[in-house]
Amino acid sequence: MPGFELIGDREREQVNDVLDTGILFRYEFPNERKGIYKVKEFESAFSKFVGTRFAHAVTSGTSALKVALVSLGVKPGDEVITQGFTFVATFEAIIECGAIPVPVEIDDTLNMDPRDLEDKLSPRTKVIVPVHMLGGPARMLEIKEIAEKRGLRVLEDTAQALGGSVNGKITGGIGDCGTYSFDFYKTITTGEGGMIVTNDPQIYKTASEYSDHGHDHNPDVGRALEGRSFLGFNYRMNELQGAVGLAQLGRLPDILKIQDRNHSIIAEAMNQVTGVQMRAIPENARDSHTHVCFFFPEGAHAIEFHKKVSSKGITAISFKNNLWHFLGNWEHLIGMKTAWPGEFPFGKPYYNEKIQYSSDTLPATAKWLERLIVIPVSLRTTLEDAGRIAGELRQAAFETLR
Ligand SMILES: Cc1ncc(COP(=O)(O)O)c(C=O)c1O
Repeated sequence: MPGFELIGDREREQVNDVLDTGILFRYEFPNERKGIYKVKEFESAFSKFVGTRFAHAVTSGTSALKVALVSLGVKPGDEVITQGFTFVATFEAIIECGAIPVPVEIDDTLNMDPRDLEDKLSPRTKVIVPVHMLGGPARMLEIKEIAEKRGLRVLEDTAQALGGSVNGKITGGIGDCGTYSFDFYKTITTGEGGMIVTNDPQIYKTASEYSDHGHDHNPDVGRALEGRSFLGFNYRMNELQGAVGLAQLGRLPDILKIQDRNHSIIAEAMNQVTGVQMRAIPENARDSHTHVCFFFPEGAHAIEFHKKVSSKGITAISFKNNLWHFLGNWEHLIGMKTAWPGEFPFGKPYYNEKIQYSSDTLPATAKWLERLIVIPVSLRTTLEDAGRIAGELRQAAFETLR
């Protein structure tokens, strides 16, 4: 799971390259930096890995989402559809644009349910944001088909699923635009950081300019004389983060291999338990295997299983009561409490409709989460430990369902 488990010599070496030049800024200082452009190099290696024409690095996965939404033309009053099981950042980024998040249910993939998506479309829908939760891909083919029929754009929140794929395409590079997070807990980390990928030159141009105060990055003039056609903000990644990102990206094939191994040992054990349902992965899709996810027949089973394995010192997560990942528990969203007065952006003059969120807004999602148990896949777990953990989990599941 998290790249921080493998921080070491390669990261130190890359960071030292930057410290040796003394230039921590990603732009400018052509003479002093001795050809070292770590963020640029990271972007180029990242777009190669994902298979998109462009990648643009920013300060976090949350800012990547905001910059991507702005670049896709989202403005105050627009509706953006996303799932109610995600990290709250997906909703916050939509609200930061003055837009209205419209929540849809998840299905057995733990990601956007395409049937509910169709029901939630409206003439105000601007963008659809599926989230690849807990390493596993969303039903991208169905979601893209629905979007294409309506002329809508798709932004993949891939913060949690670097290295997954659908039909051979890496998650994040399937829709019109994709975003990633490199925070402390992600598959690869830069401490804090994020990336936007796209094949569309206009989206890339807007992202690159918006995230740097509108600078057009004209290579023929110095920074002070660069042009600007609109006001932006500062979401720039710095060279130290770029250096760590490059080293971490180099480790990604090994990270994915260890995740595959540890995940398959635990998943195979759980698969042997009648009554346990594994999380669905769409046809021709590849899970990035950051977490093993499975459902019990009833919520009461999940509670009992959780108690049993926690007492053995095994980490298991139950998301039903998690404060940060399920809309039903976001009392600040339910109360429409933003940092702006007058409940902006939920009211007039920008939004003339009525939207309400409540703890019961997504009953199907609540049901899936109540029955769900998630086991994080650690890179530090040895083959032997993985076998032992798998055995204990299987035994606890047998006892729970006896
Ligand atoms: C699905 C999802 N989207 C967005 C983010 C935000 O990323 P960051 O923490 O880098 O801002 C996260 C982080 O946990 C996430 O899980």
